[in-house]
Amino acid sequence: MNFSKIIIGSLICLWVVSCKQKEQSSLQVPKENDFLVAIDSTLQLAVEQYSYLSQQVEPGVYPRTFQNDSLVTSDSGWWCSGFYPGTLLYLDEAINAPKLKEEAISFMADLKREQYNKSTHDLGFMMYCSFGNANRLQPNPEYQDILLNSAKSLVTRYNDTVQAIRSWDSAPWNRAGEDDLVVIIDNMMNLEMLFWATEYTQDSTYYDIAVKHADKTLRNHFREDYSSYHEVIYDEATGDVKAQITRQGASDSSAWARGQAWGVYGYVVMYRFTQDPKYLNQAQQIAEFILTHSNLPDDQIPYWDYDAPKIPNTYRDSSAAAIMASAFLELSTFSDEGKSETYYQSAERILKNLMTPHYLAQKGENGGFLLKHGVGDLPNNSEIDVPLTYGDYYFVEAMIRYKELNTNRRNNS
Ligand code: GLY
Repeated sequence: MNFSKIIIGSLICLWVVSCKQKEQSSLQVPKENDFLVAIDSTLQLAVEQYSYLSQQVEPGVYPRTFQNDSLVTSDSGWWCSGFYPGTLLYLDEAINAPKLKEEAISFMADLKREQYNKSTHDLGFMMYCSFGNANRLQPNPEYQDILLNSAKSLVTRYNDTVQAIRSWDSAPWNRAGEDDLVVIIDNMMNLEMLFWATEYTQDSTYYDIAVKHADKTLRNHFREDYSSYHEVIYDEATGDVKAQITRQGASDSSAWARGQAWGVYGYVVMYRFTQDPKYLNQAQQIAEFILTHSNLPDDQIPYWDYDAPKIPNTYRDSSAAAIMASAFLELSTFSDEGKSETYYQSAERILKNLMTPHYLAQKGENGGFLLKHGVGDLPNNSEIDVPLTYGDYYFVEAMIRYKELNTNRRNNS
C-alpha cells in the first residue's frame, strides 16, 4: 500500500516536473522570437532615425553628436567620419533601405579624400567602416583602390624599431616628447584594414605590420589582470616603454571602459585573420576582466571607466557596451561551448538593455541618433552623456551579428 502510494506520488511529481519543463521551453521560444522581432523593429527605428538625421547634414558635413538640443558635426578628417556612412550601409544590408545607401555613397564621395591622410592612425575607423563595408557588400575597383591607398597611408606611421604604428603625433596634450612614439589601445581597431590589404594584394607587408603592432600592444598595454592602459609612450630610438598612462580614462592606473572594449574587439579580429591562439586567449582574458569586474552593473552597460570615482553616481558609456556586444558575439563563435554561451548571453543582455527606452531614442528624439548616454572623453570635458556615431555603428553591427548567429544556432540545433 505504502509502496503504491510512493509510485503514484513519484508519477505525479514526474508529471509536474515535465509540465514545468514544457511550460519553460514554450516560454523560451517566444521569448527568443520576441527578441528577434525587437531587433527588427529597432532596425526599422534606426532607418527612420537615420533618414531624419540625413535631412540635417550634407556630404562633407558629418554628424558627430547631439548636444544641448543641437546637432554637432565634423568634417571628413575627424576620426569618426566613417561611422555615419558605415551605419547607413549596415541598415541597407539589414533591412533594405536604398535611400540610406544612396546617402552613404554620396558621403563616401567626399570621404575618399582621406585615403591620402598620413596624419592619423584612425584610417581604419574612417575608411574600413565605410569603404570596407561598401566593398564587402558590392566589390568595386574604385573602393578597392581607396582602401589600398588608405592602408598605404596607415603603414607610413609604422616604426620598425618600436614595431608599432604611431597613434597620435607627440604633443604636450598626450604627454609625449619629440623622440617618443605614442600608441593607444584604440589603434587595435585600425588593423583590420591591413589584413584586407594583404588579402587583396597578396603582399604580406600589411599583415606583418598588423601582427607586430598587435604583439607589441599585447606585451605593453596590459596589466596582470588583463585590463589595459589607454596610452603607452615608447622611446622611438630603442622601442622601450617610457610611460603607461591615460588620456581619456579616469587615471593612469584605471581601466577606461571603451579602451577595454576596443581591446577585446581588436584581439577577436586578430584571431579571425591569424588563427593564432594567443590572440584568442587575449580576447578571452579581456572579456573575463570585463565580465567579472565588481563595478560592471547587472545590465552590463559599463560606467565610463571601471575605476571611475563616484561609481555608481557617474555616467555609463553606451558606446563601450555596443562595442563589447559586437565583439562578444564574434568571440562566441571562436570559443568552446561554456565560454561561447557566456559571451553570447552577455551580448544578448547588453543588446536587450540598450533597447530599453533609457538608452534607445524614441522616433524623432536624440537628434536622429539611436543610442543615448555615450561618453566620448570625460576627463577633457568633451561629449559627456550624449549620442555618439560609433555607439550607433557598433550597436547596429551587433544586432546584425546577433540575427546571423541566431539563425546559425537554430540551423545547427
Ligand atoms: N579615440 C577613440 C575613442 O575615443 O574611443
